[in-house]
Amino acid sequence: FSNHDIIIVGAGFFGATIAERVANELGKRVLLIDRRHHIGGNAYSENDRETGIEVHKYGAHLFHTPNRVVWDYLNRFTQFTDYRHRVFSAHKGQVYAMPINLGTICQFFGRHFSPDEARALVAEQAAELNGREPQNLEEKAISLIGRPLYEAFIRGYTAKQWQTDPRELPESIITRLPVRYTFDNRYFNDPYEGLPVDGYTAIFERMLGNPLIETRLGTDYFDVKAQIPEGVPVVYTGPIDRYFDYRAGELKWRTVDFAQEVLSVGDFQGTAVMNYADEDVPYTRILEFRHFNPERNYQSEKTVIVKEFSRFATRADEPYYPIDTVEDKRTYLAYKTLAEQEKGVIFGGRLGTYRYLDMHQAIAAALKSFESEVRPALT
Ligand code: FDA
Repeated sequence: FSNHDIIIVGAGFFGATIAERVANELGKRVLLIDRRHHIGGNAYSENDRETGIEVHKYGAHLFHTPNRVVWDYLNRFTQFTDYRHRVFSAHKGQVYAMPINLGTICQFFGRHFSPDEARALVAEQAAELNGREPQNLEEKAISLIGRPLYEAFIRGYTAKQWQTDPRELPESIITRLPVRYTFDNRYFNDPYEGLPVDGYTAIFERMLGNPLIETRLGTDYFDVKAQIPEGVPVVYTGPIDRYFDYRAGELKWRTVDFAQEVLSVGDFQGTAVMNYADEDVPYTRILEFRHFNPERNYQSEKTVIVKEFSRFATRADEPYYPIDTVEDKRTYLAYKTLAEQEKGVIFGGRLGTYRYLDMHQAIAAALKSFESEVRPALT
C-alpha cells in the first residue's frame, strides 16, 4: 500500500471518476479497491451466458442527464445508442403508458379527452380534499392526481415498494406526480439520453485504463485500513455509518431482490419495463433486458427477465434507496459532522453521503469533488 498517492474505496461511478481524473489529469498513482469482485459499482452489467443478452446486475440502469458537462465527459469513454426509455404499467388485465399522460387518461376513462378537458377532469378529482392539508401519502397523491388514477396506478405500487399502507406513509415522500397533458410517453425529459453501445462495464474499463491506476477487487477497506500509510489521502464511497462503526446509529435503506429467469420465448413482454400496479402481484415490475438494446438484434430464441421485489434492508443487504425519515436525516447530520473532522478522508457517492444519486449526479459530484477537494490534497 506504499506505492500510491491516493486510495479510493469503491469502483462505482463516483470512485471511478475520481480515479480517472487523478491518473489522467494529475499523473498521480491511484489504488482503487472494491469489496465486490467487479468494477462498476451498481452500474455493473454482464452478458448472460446462455443468451448473450446484457443484464444490468443491480437493476435497470438508464442513462439520462440534463448536464452537458457530464454528457461530454462520459462520451470520452463510450458512445451511446439512441434508446429512449418508456415504461408501461399493468393494471387489472390492461396495460397503460407511464408516466400518466393523455393516452393513459383516454384509455383509463374510456373516451377521447382534449388536453383541456383532461386537465379539468383531473383538477376536479384532485379537489376531493377541499383545501384540507394532506396528512399522509395517500391524501397527498389524491390532491395531485385525484382518487381514480391514484388507486389504479399509485396505491398498490407504492404499498409494495414500501411494504406499508400509503395511509401510513408520510406525505413528504412525494412532492409531485407527473401528469402530461400530451400523448408524449417518453419517461425522461432530459436532453441527453441513451445506453452505452458496448455496455456499462466497458465504460469503467476505459475510465480505469491508465496504468497509473491499480484496481484491487474482492478487497474490503476495513480489512486493509491498518496497512495504509499515514498521510495518504483516502476517498471513501462506502456506507458512512459503517465507516464510523455505526456509533451514531444505523441509516435505513430499502433494498430490492432480483429474481432472474431465462425463458424459452423470443419475446416475453414486448418492452423493457412493465410495472405491476396491483397489490395481488407480489413484484413491483419485470425487466426484459433484450429490449434495452434493440440495435443488437439478439438472435437468441430465449429471453432474460428479472422480477423485482422491494423491501426494507438489513445490514447484510445491498443498500439501494435511502429511506430518509426525519430520524435518518438527524443521524446522517451526526455522521456528516464526524466526517468533516476526519482528516485526510473525503466522503462521496451514494453511500458516503446517504443520498439517492442518479449516475449523472454521481459523476457530477465526483467532478466537483475532484476540483474542490482531491486536487488541492494532491498538489
Ligand atoms: P456505487 O454503489 O455504484 O459504488 C460504491 C462501491 O463501493 C460499490 O461497488 C461497493 O462494493 C463499494 N464499497 C462499499 N463499501 C466498501 C468497502 N468497505 N470496501 C471496499 N469497497 C466498498 N441511476 C441512473 O442514472 N439511472 C438508472 O436507471 C438507475 N437505476 C438504478 C437502479 C437501482 C436498483 C439502484 C440501486 C440505483 C440505480 N441508479 C440509476 C443509481 C446508480 O446506481 C448510482 O448513481 C451509482 O451507483 C452511484 O455511484 P457510486 O459510485 O456513488 O455508488
